[in-house]
Amino acid sequence: MDNIITKIDRQNLPCHVAIIMDGNGRWAKSIGMTRSFGHKNGVNAVREVTEASAELGIKYLTLYAFSTENWNRPKFEINTLMSLLVSSINKEIKTLIKNNIRLLTIGNTESLPKKVQKELSKAIEITSKNSGLTLVLALSYSSRWEIINAINRISSDIRNEVIKDETITEELFTKYLTTSNIPDPDLLIRTSGEYRISNFLLWQIAYSELYFTKKLWPDFNKNDFYEAIFDLQNRERRFGLTSEQIRDK
Ligand code: FPP
Repeated sequence: MDNIITKIDRQNLPCHVAIIMDGNGRWAKSIGMTRSFGHKNGVNAVREVTEASAELGIKYLTLYAFSTENWNRPKFEINTLMSLLVSSINKEIKTLIKNNIRLLTIGNTESLPKKVQKELSKAIEITSKNSGLTLVLALSYSSRWEIINAINRISSDIRNEVIKDETITEELFTKYLTTSNIPDPDLLIRTSGEYRISNFLLWQIAYSELYFTKKLWPDFNKNDFYEAIFDLQNRERRFGLTSEQIRDK
C-alpha cells in the first residue's frame, strides 16, 4: 500500500501496541543462515517499530523479546539473544534519550544473567524521566507465570494483613501484575503467519484487537506497522456493547 502513513488518523491512535515478534529462525533458514543470524536481523525490525511508534506519538510499545519457554532453547541461542540484548541497549541508549523514550521491562527479570540485569537497570534508570514513548520489553515473561506470581503476592499480602481478602477486584488484581502501571494493549500484532498468543499478556488482551501478518519478523518494517494501525482504525471496537450503543456514545 503506497503512502499508508498519510491514511493514518493521528487523532485516533492506539495508546498501546504489543507485538509477538516471530519468525527470526525461519527467515534465517530461508537464506541458509543460522538462527542467531535471524535474531541479529530481528533487531533491525525492533528499531523500525520503535521509531515508527515514537514518530506517530504512540504512548506504549510492548515487545515479546524472550518468553519463559525460550529458556528451553539451545544454550548457544539463549546466549546470542542475551548478548544481543546487552549490545542493542548499549548501542541504542543515546537514541532512546534523544527521542524521549522511556525503557521498562516486564517478566521475571531476576532470572536473567546478572550482566543483562545490570545493563537493563542502568538504561531504565537513565530513561526513567522520559515522557514520550514507553518501550516495554517482555523478558523471561509468560502470562501464566505473571498471574501465579500476582496470586502468590496477593496471598502473602492477605496473610500479612496489608490487604483484606474481600477487597480483591479486577483493579486490585491488575496492580499485582508486572504491567501494573501500563494500560491494556489496544492492538496485538503477531508476525510469521502463526495464529497463537503463546502465553503473552493473557489478562491484558481481554479487549485488544488482534492482527496477524505472514511477514517474518526481520522483514517487518515501518510500513507494515502503519498497515496494522490503519487496519485497527477501520475496525469497530465494541467492548461488549452493540454498534448502536457505540455510535450514540
Ligand atoms: C522469535 O523468532 C523471536 C525471538 C524468540 C526473539 C526476539 C528477539 C529479537 C528480535 C532480538 C533482540 C531483541 C531486542 C529487544 C533488542 P523465532 O526464533 O521463534 O523464529 P521461528 O519461529 O522462525 O523459529
